[in-house]
Amino acid sequence: MTTTASVRYIAESCEATCNRAVSDWIEIVSDAITQHGLCNVALSGGRTPIFFYHQLLQHANLSRVDWSRVHLFMVDERYVPLDHAESNYRMTCEQLIAHITIPASNLHPVNTSLPLQDAVVDYTKTLETCLPPAASGTPQFDLVMLGMGADGHTASLFPGTSAANEYKVHVVSVISQAAPMTRISITFSVINAARHVMLLVCGKDKASVINHIFGHDAVEKYPVQRVNPEAGSVHWYLDSAAAGPRADSH
Ligand code: 6PG
Repeated sequence: MTTTASVRYIAESCEATCNRAVSDWIEIVSDAITQHGLCNVALSGGRTPIFFYHQLLQHANLSRVDWSRVHLFMVDERYVPLDHAESNYRMTCEQLIAHITIPASNLHPVNTSLPLQDAVVDYTKTLETCLPPAASGTPQFDLVMLGMGADGHTASLFPGTSAANEYKVHVVSVISQAAPMTRISITFSVINAARHVMLLVCGKDKASVINHIFGHDAVEKYPVQRVNPEAGSVHWYLDSAAAGPRADSH
């Protein structure tokens, strides 16, 4: 897959690139609500979303977001209780949901109280029930928000895992030495069915992977290179540390 077809925005700091991502996020969410009455968004865990939510909550156009029409899902989740310090949903609650007015019925966490495979089946049903199908029949998000690890993983699709090669099912459980705990994640089939994908990547520990995937003749080496929506857009938001010295925006 080629990443050159995607749009890349680079700013000096993580805050600045997240601020630009917020502007685009609000546009995408507002357009989706205008077009089909609601917006289905999948959110990632990790640290970068904290910078993004901080920018979102103070953005001048935040009032344009009708949260009653926004449904929040998780890209992936650690297989821990939702109040556990490592839970992505707990982080999302603390950093975003606690600061907005959104109906509880619009919140779709992974039910990690179930046995692992039951949780996978349950979340699969949630996606297939709540989301419209893309042309491929795959549940379609309006927007998937991704990060990227220093090893080139995204969601919980880690290098060397069968999950990173899974395109038949929509949700998988993931056990990887790279991750300290079992995860549940959407697959690339769902990511690539999305109407829009935003990747927020900050920090110099990501620079070597970014340099590879935006280099000339970039062979596929990392899972994140499989982000390639069939009919959607891919927008990368990088800080200068992750983008490296020779980078410029496209
Ligand atoms: C998770 C995330 C994961 C994250 C990357 C980047 O559950 O940890 O979903 O895929 O997006 O590891 O994490 P940072 O934003 O902390 O760099």
